[in-house]
Amino acid sequence: MARDEEATGGRKPPSYGGEVNAFIVTTCIVAAFGGLIFGYDLGISGGVTSMDSFLMKFFPSVYRKEVADQNQNMYCKFDSHLLTLFTSSLYLSALVACMCASTITRKYGRKLSMLSGGLVFLAGAIINAAAVNVAMLIVGRLLLGVGVGFCNQSIPVYLSEIAPAKWRGAMNIGFQMMITIGILAANLVNYWTAKIESGNGWRISLGLAAVPALMITVGSLFLPDTPNSILERGDAAKAKQMLQKIRGTDDVDAEFEDLVRASAAAKKIDRPMRRLLTERRYRPQLVFCTLIPFFQQVTGINVVMFYAPVLFKTLGLGQSASLMSSLITGFFNVVATFVSIYVADRFGRRSLFLEGGIQMIICQGSFGTSGTGQLSTAAAVLVVVFVTGFVMAFAWSWGPMGWLVPTEICPLELRSAGQAMNAGVNMFFTFVIGQFFLSLLCNLKFGLFFLFAAFVVVMTGFIYFFLPETRNVPIEDMGEVFRRHWFWQKYAAVDDDDNNKGGSAPRRSVELK
Ligand code: BGC
Repeated sequence: MARDEEATGGRKPPSYGGEVNAFIVTTCIVAAFGGLIFGYDLGISGGVTSMDSFLMKFFPSVYRKEVADQNQNMYCKFDSHLLTLFTSSLYLSALVACMCASTITRKYGRKLSMLSGGLVFLAGAIINAAAVNVAMLIVGRLLLGVGVGFCNQSIPVYLSEIAPAKWRGAMNIGFQMMITIGILAANLVNYWTAKIESGNGWRISLGLAAVPALMITVGSLFLPDTPNSILERGDAAKAKQMLQKIRGTDDVDAEFEDLVRASAAAKKIDRPMRRLLTERRYRPQLVFCTLIPFFQQVTGINVVMFYAPVLFKTLGLGQSASLMSSLITGFFNVVATFVSIYVADRFGRRSLFLEGGIQMIICQGSFGTSGTGQLSTAAAVLVVVFVTGFVMAFAWSWGPMGWLVPTEICPLELRSAGQAMNAGVNMFFTFVIGQFFLSLLCNLKFGLFFLFAAFVVVMTGFIYFFLPETRNVPIEDMGEVFRRHWFWQKYAAVDDDDNNKGGSAPRRSVELK
């Protein structure tokens, strides 16, 4: 049986959806710019908080502690609550912002959320670059977090809706691609600004966040809204025109019919977040929108993203070799994302999740055993190779799939709430890893990755048993995939009973025959 048919239980998937065209590609690239602000932020704070001039100005006690005890374990110098609050406050405000963005995205369109996100992030970048005290730093970080929350909530939804089914994986992964480019750009900027002698390098690092902010702010002004969203807000004629434009053909009747049906069902639903949390028929969506981001974070990826140079230093690599090694890791993070763009729509989401999981376990197991400071150069290089192998595995599996799968499995009425949940849980565990795993990192160093490897074993099994393949399935027909799944079908049955009372779009049998 062909893989497409497997996904829908032996039925042929519908043939509509169109091909990619220049308009769609440009649109998706511009929308994905929003990933740059998140990535830039993930990459910039670790470097800035290790700059002496920054510590002297804002966290003198941390600085004094560092100078007083030069032999202090490198990991432990970050163990200051105020300092980690600088990093983690962003993810807390992003968490709150995701929830607010959910309503704006649904009621006023995906574009407005992106525009608001870009503008608030821009304000945060300016305040941070001009900061003269800790309060300004924290206010700036909170605003950056609002920007990240709005963009992370709306952009994956936007990309999944605008892309033709056949290319949805590749287009949505543009978001992850921009995240990785943002991280690499931030690492390069820090590499350069750390050497600036005036001691103001950190201002440049923080201020340059304005560049990606401007890109998404200006870009979003020119983006079209998605047909799904236009329809959801009541303008059928305009929605159809937009669908024709993005699909590059007038022949969009079948797809439009699906959108109309999904939109009619969505209109009957109020308080989508509450329904997501409480209604049994939405259990699959709730489970994936909470567990996928949780699992994504407990791979330990952000311990590497935040602290790679510090980790490498404990192996005995010098300052500059450590920074160089983390740039190498960052580079392969970007390169590996291309693999998932190629594979996701050809071989499916499950194959990426499963291969990536196994590769991460092998790599984590290998570098988890490394000690500190006594490794030969060859052994240290081997550790860098395994860390890079881990980052690459994440970059083509849980990284992009963590943003793609939750948006594509939600019916229209839940999509915005589902993505708010996904982004919110993601932000929360990014915060938890950054804030609370530091003391573990201080004691266990690379050994911490055994704990993360145990999580990866569990989550790989979870995907194997519970995630149905969603490749090539039109977004408004996703319910069919769950109705045919050995485990989720009992929840989908509730959906069938409820069809006449509103809720998910009724099953359309014609195209799926
Ligand atoms: C994750 C981030 C992570 C990044 C690494 C994203 O998908 O959400 O937490 O830092 O990938 O590239």
